[in-house]
Amino acid sequence: MIFLPKRGGRITNQTPVTEIIKKRYSCRTYNQTPIDKDQQASLEGFLSENSTGPFGESARFKLITATAEEQNDLKDLGTYGVIKNPAGFIIGAAKDGPSNLEDFGYTMEKSILFATGLGLGTCWLGGTFTKSAFAGKIDLQADESIPAVTAVGHIAPQKSLLEKTMRWGAGADSRKPRQMLFFRNTFDQPLTPEAAGEWNIPLEMVRIGPSASNQQPWRIVRHAENDTFHFYLQRTQRYQTRNRILFGMADLQLVDMGIAMCHFEITAADLGLAGEWRFDEPDIGQLPDQTRYVASWEAGI
Ligand SMILES: Cc1cc2nc3c(=O)[nH]c(=O)nc-3n(C[C@H](O)[C@H](O)[C@H](O)COP(=O)(O)O)c2cc1C
Repeated sequence: MIFLPKRGGRITNQTPVTEIIKKRYSCRTYNQTPIDKDQQASLEGFLSENSTGPFGESARFKLITATAEEQNDLKDLGTYGVIKNPAGFIIGAAKDGPSNLEDFGYTMEKSILFATGLGLGTCWLGGTFTKSAFAGKIDLQADESIPAVTAVGHIAPQKSLLEKTMRWGAGADSRKPRQMLFFRNTFDQPLTPEAAGEWNIPLEMVRIGPSASNQQPWRIVRHAENDTFHFYLQRTQRYQTRNRILFGMADLQLVDMGIAMCHFEITAADLGLAGEWRFDEPDIGQLPDQTRYVASWEAGI
């Protein structure tokens, strides 16, 4: 397999990105098998090259793994019992910066998709992990934070009862319908599949992506005249304030935006649809409550 980790590149040269995105889900029950040496080396290689997102902010990523005998060490890292038998974790340290969380989401998600392409299961953990335990493992610096970590390992044939309950609780298998997410010119008009044309697939890959508590805060407005897709964050009421005050969590909905940008960009690249990120807020009239601009994809460049 040839891997092209650069921004906009393919995750693998074999499997279409759409298939990898569809295959990914939050796996919380792993079997006891360690990650094999080749997979580990490929993933580590990818992590070391994939450290910058579209906003130009950087993060460091480190894979920690354990042999079958050392699995208890990983257990002690603390995931509040949510993750069963993880073979490893990708720990990410984001450098402080204005859009560091969006870029963190973008780069971590790319690595998750890479791991999915290797046949591994993964699970984003932005809330149910103990920050201090992971901070030591990556030698966290004063100008860095760990917004989330990712569990990795071989998928167990059966989900644990806790995993099934969590999936049910988060409605993990359902997503908002496209008319709630994608719009034409302004937020007043949904973007029909006909009007989205060849961009339906990148949009659908955003729609089926993961998000914290499955809140799906991404909204996209296509401006037909200059063929630009404007990405907005529509915050879930009180979600961030509550999570920060009660649990010291990072602003995970910004991380979600980076994930959406990753899915959109790499799917477009895989389909041969050209475009570039731009960061100029357009005037599209009144925005809905709790909604703010993040980035724009200018097609055809
Ligand atoms: C930024 C982020 C943080 C998340 N944090 C957690 C977490 O702390 N614990 C957990 O069990 N799942 C976590 N998830 C997983 C989501 O609950 C999951 O993506 C969502 O329910 C959709 O399910 P799926 O990933 O299986 O498609 C997180 C996902 C994202 C994107």
